[in-house]
Amino acid sequence: MKRNIIVLDTTLRDGEQVPGAKLNMQQKVEFAQQLKRLKVDIIEAGFPASSQGDFQAVREIARTVGDSVSVTALGRAVKSDIDAVYESIRIAQQPLIHIVLGSSNIHVEKKFNRSKEAVLQMGVDAVRYAKTLLPQVQYSTEDASRADYEYLWTMIESVVKAGATIINVPDTVGYAEPDEFGELIRKLNERLMNLNPEVLLSVHCHNDLGLATANTLSAIKNGAGKIECTINGLGERAGNTSLEEVVMALKVREARYQCGTNIQTTELLRTSRLLTYLTGLDVQVNKAITGENAFAHSSGIHQDGLLKDKQVYEIMSPEEVGADSMELILTARSGRHAFKHAVQQLGFDPGEGEELEQLFQRFLELADAKKEVYDHDLFYLVSEHREQSASSRQLFELLSFQVVTNDECPTAAFTLRKGDSVLRGSAVGDGPIDALFRGIKALAELDVSLKHYKINSISRGTEAVGRVNIQLEYVGKTYAGRAMDTDIIKASAQAFLNGINAALLDTVYAQEDSASGEVML
Ligand code: KIV
Ligand code: ZN
Repeated sequence: MKRNIIVLDTTLRDGEQVPGAKLNMQQKVEFAQQLKRLKVDIIEAGFPASSQGDFQAVREIARTVGDSVSVTALGRAVKSDIDAVYESIRIAQQPLIHIVLGSSNIHVEKKFNRSKEAVLQMGVDAVRYAKTLLPQVQYSTEDASRADYEYLWTMIESVVKAGATIINVPDTVGYAEPDEFGELIRKLNERLMNLNPEVLLSVHCHNDLGLATANTLSAIKNGAGKIECTINGLGERAGNTSLEEVVMALKVREARYQCGTNIQTTELLRTSRLLTYLTGLDVQVNKAITGENAFAHSSGIHQDGLLKDKQVYEIMSPEEVGADSMELILTARSGRHAFKHAVQQLGFDPGEGEELEQLFQRFLELADAKKEVYDHDLFYLVSEHREQSASSRQLFELLSFQVVTNDECPTAAFTLRKGDSVLRGSAVGDGPIDALFRGIKALAELDVSLKHYKINSISRGTEAVGRVNIQLEYVGKTYAGRAMDTDIIKASAQAFLNGINAALLDTVYAQEDSASGEVML
């Protein structure tokens, strides 16, 4: 009989630990809404004890998507962390407390410097306490793949007796290999079934040796009923198991695995692109399932075979992962109706009346400049427009700019708006973009430093749109700014301003948080 594998997405927790992948609350909620469309079973929304911002974001996610998706958040095996998790997720319909505690000798001795018995007792006490708050508690035996097997089992047995409803076995450092990890899961599953068959056995793999997907699939074959993954495999170091890879492997090789998931696979590509857009972290072109070339066939022999029958060289269709609805081509003559339909196909709400009109006018400007507007272009246009409208309060807006470039003295002059004020500035720099950045930074009076600047072409054809991603550092935090335009200098200025606006917005949110006095951390 086919087993249903529960999918927990931890992009917003493990994935977000990646340097530069930090999202603001609005972005996290937007991504969580897409995870809901993707039909993941559980969203791990963050690590609420880590900061007030994370606490607020987890709570907002629980409030906005917790009606139909189970929401969890991570805490260490201490009361204050568990309280923070509980307070942030309790509004969700199916909240789940997730506790993590080391299980390997290295963790016990080096991280905690306590006896094995004392660490085990910490885990039991944490689960007992969590159970006084909620019925569903997941316990993660951190670094399980390097743990002493009998100690690992004793820990699992004790926390199950204390009330844990899910046991998660992580390969925290990506050390396991498929046969060995499968064997570990088989042995644990056998004992767990005898102890309490109601408890769900879960796995969480990292990709340090490029084996996360293989290890997760091996665990599924050996009895795991739940998997933890991230979109695009984002996560600590080399990342986590990539959700799209495991889900499609189970789907394409269903006869072999005899397992399926609830994932709406036609939303996979859209989810991947949204994450790329929000984090600014690109997917490698040949990445399985979501890479730009994943369904491209360039060799003549392959193209010939495909024309005869798709199955000759295709094991799954691009449509199955949502590639068909991503292939809309609009022009300036497409009209409001086609535009609205295309925006809806991308999963966005185009709005009505004035809102729709504003969006449509921006589309027409782009279509005039670029002639053919692809799905990519539309996606970035709508996302950017929504970000700007949501955050238009007292933030900087680029009204006009001019640059002069030469090898003597590249110069930029520009006009910005902030609220009701119009501000003018100019600067010289090593090049026109450097001049713009220097001038904008001086006018904004924000001591930011540019950490990263990247420019990509985001669509095909000679009239491609440039997408600029930057990262700024401001008072020890990293902020991302993105923008796209057919003019890369304008996109650069806009991305820089968006980064500055993200820093400003974060400062405003932080002030509002401390003024509201609602946070109980
Ligand atoms: O890698 C890990 O061990 C984790 C746990 C919190 C599950 O992320
Ligand atoms: Zn992890």
